[in-house]
Amino acid sequence: MQLKDKVAIVTGGGSGIGRAIAHGFSAEGARVLVSDIDGKSADTVAGELAGEADAVLCDVSDTASVNSMVDEAVSQFGKLDILVNNAGRARSGWVTNMSDEDWDSVFAVNVRGTFACSRAALKHMIPQRSGRILNTASGAGLRAFPRAAVYAASKAAVISFTYSLAAEVAKYGITVNAIGPGVTDTPFWRALRSEEDIEAAIAQGVVGRPEDLVPMVTFLCSNAGAVHTGLMVNRETFMPAVQE
Ligand SMILES: NC(=O)c1ccc[n+]([C@@H]2O[C@H](COP(=O)([O-])OP(=O)(O)OC[C@H]3O[C@@H](n4cnc5c(N)ncnc54)[C@H](O)[C@@H]3O)[C@@H](O)[C@H]2O)c1
Repeated sequence: MQLKDKVAIVTGGGSGIGRAIAHGFSAEGARVLVSDIDGKSADTVAGELAGEADAVLCDVSDTASVNSMVDEAVSQFGKLDILVNNAGRARSGWVTNMSDEDWDSVFAVNVRGTFACSRAALKHMIPQRSGRILNTASGAGLRAFPRAAVYAASKAAVISFTYSLAAEVAKYGITVNAIGPGVTDTPFWRALRSEEDIEAAIAQGVVGRPEDLVPMVTFLCSNAGAVHTGLMVNRETFMPAVQE
């Protein structure tokens, strides 16, 4: 029970990687607030968990919604130990075809959402002198990712934010880390690919399952992860270009 008595929020917890993390945390003894912009999927996942859990509809790009999500975790469970900033948005296409709205909407969810959720969580973590923040970034933020430049730039910002925030809050016993999940079989990944790309990636053996990420994420969010901060743990995988 690596997370016994911990209270965790998982954003984007209604699907894919977030859902797997919510399940994994619950199995390790955490009380989990499953958060998603799709309230129904958050409800479903919270209902699947064996331990104490609840669901909340939250759009991470809306600061008021974020603040009330964190308030709900604290009023429901009495504290907040772990925040997983996992909700994500992507837009694919050549930069020349991207609109201002594409840029703004991706940055609003991936970057401002990570910032707003972290800020709200830290209001509780700093006074208790402990906490774990885990950001689902992407290897796309570390390299060229043609036809997904806006997404890649947003994940680079998440990685940079992780480093700076880790340095800011280390003195409070709070860790901040990022993961690059690598190619992971979720609705998000499939939506950006052709059937041929999906089959090719599976044949190459590079496609992971969401639950494969859970042991590492659990460790980083556990008491044993105390000295591990400011990390970007990237599962490097071959990423074919996204569909045109
Ligand atoms: N699947 C991959 O191959 C892969 C690779 C690298 C990084 N990632 C990152 O992993 C994270 C999870 O993605 P996934 O693959 O599990 O996708 P997914 O589509 O299965 O899950 C994403 C969840 O985020 C929710 N969401 C979207 N916008 C939101 C918002 N504004 N507020 C709250 N929730 C919102 C969705 O409703 C959905 O439930 C994302 O940040 C993504 O960028 C995924």
